[in-house]
Amino acid sequence: MPATVVVGTQWGDEGKGKLTDLLARDMDMVVRYQGGHNAGHRIVVDGEAFALQLVPSGVLYSHITPVIGNGVVVDPAVLLSELDTLSGKGIDVSRVVVSGNAHLIMPYHQELDRLTERFLGKNALGTTKRGIGPAYADKSSRVGLRVQDLLDAKIFREKLDVVLKEKNLILNKIYNRPSLSAKDISATYLDEYTPRLAPMIKDTVAIVHDALDRGERILLEGAQATFLDLDHGTYPFVTSSNPVAGGACTGSGLGPRDLTGIVGIAKAYVTRVGAGPFPTELDGELGQLLVDRGHEYGTNTGRRRRVGWFDAVMARQAARLNSLSEIALTKLDVLDTLDEIKVCVAYEAGGVLYDYPPYHQSILHDVTPVYESLPGWGCDLTSLTSYEQLPDKAKSYIAFLEEAIGVSISVVGVGPGREQFVRPSWRGASSSEPERVSTHSRGRWAKVARCS
Ligand code: GDP
Ligand code: IMO
Ligand code: MG
Repeated sequence: MPATVVVGTQWGDEGKGKLTDLLARDMDMVVRYQGGHNAGHRIVVDGEAFALQLVPSGVLYSHITPVIGNGVVVDPAVLLSELDTLSGKGIDVSRVVVSGNAHLIMPYHQELDRLTERFLGKNALGTTKRGIGPAYADKSSRVGLRVQDLLDAKIFREKLDVVLKEKNLILNKIYNRPSLSAKDISATYLDEYTPRLAPMIKDTVAIVHDALDRGERILLEGAQATFLDLDHGTYPFVTSSNPVAGGACTGSGLGPRDLTGIVGIAKAYVTRVGAGPFPTELDGELGQLLVDRGHEYGTNTGRRRRVGWFDAVMARQAARLNSLSEIALTKLDVLDTLDEIKVCVAYEAGGVLYDYPPYHQSILHDVTPVYESLPGWGCDLTSLTSYEQLPDKAKSYIAFLEEAIGVSISVVGVGPGREQFVRPSWRGASSSEPERVSTHSRGRWAKVARCS
């Protein structure tokens, strides 16, 4: 039975929370497969906002089993506080389960994330300072503590003693910071967090496969996005996990043939938080207009997001990296007041045209976007309830993006609210309707003649 992935196609904050919430209506289980509380997924229901960091966005429905998969890094304090906040708003969180194989974010991870960023000075990445990179680094170095270690105090203490020796040396000798106490950390993690977390800690690989065997539908919710991917993003300005659709398998325990649909999510323009290349970035009044109209401030860090025109070169690359079966386009309403809307269809650098991002950073950091201009529609989309009601110019913008990317658009967001979306008459892999095969030749601009 089907497992559908929701994956960000840009630099994050495309609206994965809202889309996951929307698609979860027809699902049985929602699995987060990577990242940690660097994510901020906002869902607005009847005017009430929920900002989720670790708990899968399907949690708002009573029929959904929310699963925190093995690929996630978990700060227990954040998870417990998020569960408390949700309970306080009347949401039943008793079905949430956490993989025993997920790694724990420890106090030294957060501290080292902050210190490393400070040490890097003007070369800082602009991380969320949540300890994500250091936690994944320990996972790769095989000195990480896992969620299941909470269930065995002896092992937890042994592992902590070993790893803390090295971390304290780094804190003392390199950063001139005081040591952290194994006793204090153990007391907090084992005595305070474990009694509450223990009932949620499960073999989530068995849970997802049993669900598929029962014929249930699973949605895999990515955090971050394709161009923040550790392997495929704009390294080193990336996160430390694999948000791309392939990461949905490693981060959940499903196999590649279990995946039946991959929904890429894209904003009608592009945003990025933190440092790194951004070819279509807009400064000045136009940039500020998009920030203001799109409320482009981080969902959990509050940082101002950088903004720019839609970049079809990146979207094309995201289509192939994730084998997208369809795209959900969000925040089209934010462009309502613009007379002219630009779309980057290729990059130019050194007399060469690129229809996919050049692999070498020295070129990517230096490209000039090649734009095509489209007319704006100049009216408010936020109250529309059907695709047919969209003005022709908005439909043309959508069709232009589909043609430029080579993937069909199955959902269009026209406001932050749960009900503020429209769908064309066909429905994608994420619904029970048959999937429409993309009719677009992938990347018309692939045929653009290259300058000699
Ligand atoms: P995520 O990290 O991908 O889940 O995205 P965030 O929740 O961090 O950021 C997306 C923001 O856009 C949130 O504030 C959403 O409420 C909002 N949003 C989502 N879809 C739409 C849309 O179609 N229109 C508008 N105006 N806002 C939207
Ligand atoms: P969601 O799931 C946008 C960015 C940070 C920084 C880089 C590395 O809400 O889309 P990290 O703390 O992960 O080591 O930071 O990645 N970043 C995000 N940007 N949305 C996110 O999550 C992000 N998670 C991390 O700003 O540039
Ligand atoms: Mg976000």
